[in-house]
Amino acid sequence: MKAAWYDRYGTADVLEIREVPRPEPKDDEILVQVFATSVNTADWRFRASKFPGIFWLAGRAMAGLFAPKKNVLGSEFAGRVVARGKNVTRFKGGDEVLGFSMGLGANAEYIAVSENSPVVKKPASVGYDEAAATPFGGQSALAFLRDFAQVQPGWKVLIAGASGGLGVWAVQLARQLGAEVTAVTSTRNVDLVRSLGADHVIDYTQADIAASDERYDLILDTAGTTDFAQAKRALKPNGIFLPVEFGGREIWQALWSKLAGGKRVIIGVSSDSTEMLDYLAGLLESGEIRAVIDSHYPLERIADAHRRVESRHKRGSVVVTVAPQALPVGRAA
Ligand SMILES: NC(=O)c1ccc[n+]([C@@H]2O[C@H](COP(=O)([O-])OP(=O)(O)OC[C@H]3O[C@@H](n4cnc5c(N)ncnc54)[C@H](OP(=O)(O)O)[C@@H]3O)[C@@H](O)[C@H]2O)c1
Repeated sequence: MKAAWYDRYGTADVLEIREVPRPEPKDDEILVQVFATSVNTADWRFRASKFPGIFWLAGRAMAGLFAPKKNVLGSEFAGRVVARGKNVTRFKGGDEVLGFSMGLGANAEYIAVSENSPVVKKPASVGYDEAAATPFGGQSALAFLRDFAQVQPGWKVLIAGASGGLGVWAVQLARQLGAEVTAVTSTRNVDLVRSLGADHVIDYTQADIAASDERYDLILDTAGTTDFAQAKRALKPNGIFLPVEFGGREIWQALWSKLAGGKRVIIGVSSDSTEMLDYLAGLLESGEIRAVIDSHYPLERIADAHRRVESRHKRGSVVVTVAPQALPVGRAA
């Protein structure tokens, strides 16, 4: 099968399309023919070895100290089950699925994953490209908003980086949880975030968040552009600052503010689960949330997909099309 392969860290030029053996599903695994996958910020960090701040060494140790341990990147996939191990009960051949592979390997024509990993049936009304654009940002936003911050109906929530891979889901899911949402974005994305349901928009090229008199219950920063000192000025007395990118300073602030009470910093690493994907798939199916696709690239041009992600100004997700079924009929990548 074809796969996007890399065996050294570096620029997007390290990626090449190679013929590699097709994986064989183990007893508890399904083999999925991948129609659509993605390049997300985690793939870029792995390929370029761009692990943030104090996590560089830990990230590098996990990815491979001297060279990558996993040669095929990609965590998000959507496709069709073509084989299954003898113990598999949740899926059968022909099922249309979407999933998230913690072990990467999705930037390829086939992937084998455990039926107990985050993989669910794809709603028929959702395209494969949209399905592949969902798990990374959708699960992360859900983890930060629902599980870490425990957003309550009526909360005023500010989301910085509202048009990015995580932000587009955070805007929609915060609304879904009953919050009043203020989205921070640049001029060209104002209409996009409004269309996702943002109640208010701050264009960061024109104003900063502390300029208004508004006070928030939660500030979720996906862009790494706000610190606790700035956030404090815009938070309510018991408000939460949740920086998605964090370092030693934020870890210390999280510990200290928990003891001190009042305005708090919460940090966490997003999780993934079948429950989360099921929740997201249900909302996609009912049309309450939708994927935002920045661009499509065929597998052969995956290096360009990485370059787009590395710009840090994509809108939603960068989708990689592996088979013609990835796209709605009549659309070419
Ligand atoms: N801790 C965890 O578990 C976890 C999980 C998932 C992701 N992450 C991290 O979360 C971060 C965001 O990921 P992503 O996929 O959403 O990234 P992304 O798609 O590259 O989005 C970056 C966003 O930042 C915005 N931005 C750039 N400069 C800004 C500024 N000065 N003020 C406000 N917004 C600005 C961009 O908007 P414009 O184009 O409008 O400028 C864009 O929407 C990454 O660092 C990723 O590694 C962490």
